[in-house]
Amino acid sequence: MRVGLLGFGTVGSSFAEVLAAQEGAGVRITRIFNRGVERKRSHERARFVPAEAVWTERVEDVLEAADVDVVVELLGGLGPVENWLRAALLAGRHVVTANKQLIAYRGADLFALAAEKGVQLLYGAAVAGGVPVIPGVAQGLSGDRLTRISGILNGTCNFILSSMESGAEYQEVLDRAQAAGYAEADPSADVDGLDARAKLCILARLALHAEIDPEQIPAETIASISAVDFAYARELGCTLRQVSRAELLDGMVSAGVGPMLVPRSSPIAWSHGTRNMVVTSGRFGGDVVFSGHGAGGHPTAVAVLSDVRAIAENSAQVRLPARRMKVVGDAVAPHYLRFVVADEPGIVAAIAGVLARHQVNIDSLLQHRGYPAERLPFVITTEPCLSSKVGRAVAEMAALPFMVQPPLCLQMLVADDPETV
Ligand SMILES: NC(=O)c1ccc[n+]([C@@H]2O[C@H](COP(=O)([O-])OP(=O)(O)OC[C@H]3O[C@@H](n4cnc5c(N)ncnc54)[C@H](OP(=O)(O)O)[C@@H]3O)[C@@H](O)[C@H]2O)c1
Repeated sequence: MRVGLLGFGTVGSSFAEVLAAQEGAGVRITRIFNRGVERKRSHERARFVPAEAVWTERVEDVLEAADVDVVVELLGGLGPVENWLRAALLAGRHVVTANKQLIAYRGADLFALAAEKGVQLLYGAAVAGGVPVIPGVAQGLSGDRLTRISGILNGTCNFILSSMESGAEYQEVLDRAQAAGYAEADPSADVDGLDARAKLCILARLALHAEIDPEQIPAETIASISAVDFAYARELGCTLRQVSRAELLDGMVSAGVGPMLVPRSSPIAWSHGTRNMVVTSGRFGGDVVFSGHGAGGHPTAVAVLSDVRAIAENSAQVRLPARRMKVVGDAVAPHYLRFVVADEPGIVAAIAGVLARHQVNIDSLLQHRGYPAERLPFVITTEPCLSSKVGRAVAEMAALPFMVQPPLCLQMLVADDPETV
């Protein structure tokens, strides 16, 4: 299997290294495209590239080459990459990519083109990096009827939230994540949930056979979480994670990405650092958990090479048709409401009055000692109810005169299967 590599960055150069470490892989890099080739040739991992491989700054030198069987795309982004991959598929080349944006937004068309041309388009590295959730779901679980997927799809958010468990504040941990290279200078795609929802769409297509638009999935930021939420969550037997979830519901998909309270007994809570985790729920097989390194050059390159080898071995790919479905953001769940108030008599009665008007039942009220009266945080949890209903109550409460900042409203994950979530 002769590989034409597009991109010699973090994953591309790691792919060369991982491949060089495999004896008799039956896979060989013949061409590499990147801008600034001279700079790339002096990269310390360039020594893993076979001496006879051709380096080029012209993408056509890879796409049109007779000595390329599979184009491995590790550039990233939508344009012009989409056109380049179309050209590769049209020319009858197999394609392997780690590009989640491309597969989330343009996957349906590209898969149709690959099928028409009788070639493979594999993307195992596009979700959860080195965790084989894509082949695991596509091959290992295609015999089940999956109804729900949930989990941690963004390693940056997981690093931030799991580090905050020890009492640190959001900004402090974000600074640390940026210094360690786990978070971008502009972290919004990660912390605001946009990266995770692209991955969630890819999983929904594969696991739920639902073609959904990433823009339709509601995404909440983790930037509003503070250390005090971890203290209250602990008392409730929970911690906080950025959870991505999608579930089939009456011919629609209920989906969302955002911070949630997660029971400490749930595997989702066990995921620390930059690790990813996906839990699938099947009608016949029950829950299955996938966990491991969701990013990083080497783990991602392993997924890419596994795809190339699957093509080399002509492994059958199970492809079940997906149909377009509407997304609903609403979900029935208990909710966690955290208020920061300037203390005065009658606050709890005022809040309870708003919740009662919106027919939201209170489950518990928690207040820790030791906070200043002019910025007093306390928590109310609700019984399970529609998030839109709680949202309307919270919007009304935000205008109450004693609120120092808008209330924080988070869903709480509940276990269907007591062994997992
Ligand atoms: N890094 C991870 O942990 C990870 C995990 C899962 C999936 N992925 C996906 O893997 C892909 C590659 O990510 P990466 O982290 O390896 O990115 P990266 O380090 O930025 O590497 C991208 C490489 O492609 C080159 N490139 C980008 N656009 C180009 C263009 N238009 N023309 C020519 N060369 C171009 C870049 O050249 P310059 O050096 O000149 O910029 C760089 O060498 C992305 O789709 C990403 O989402 C990455």
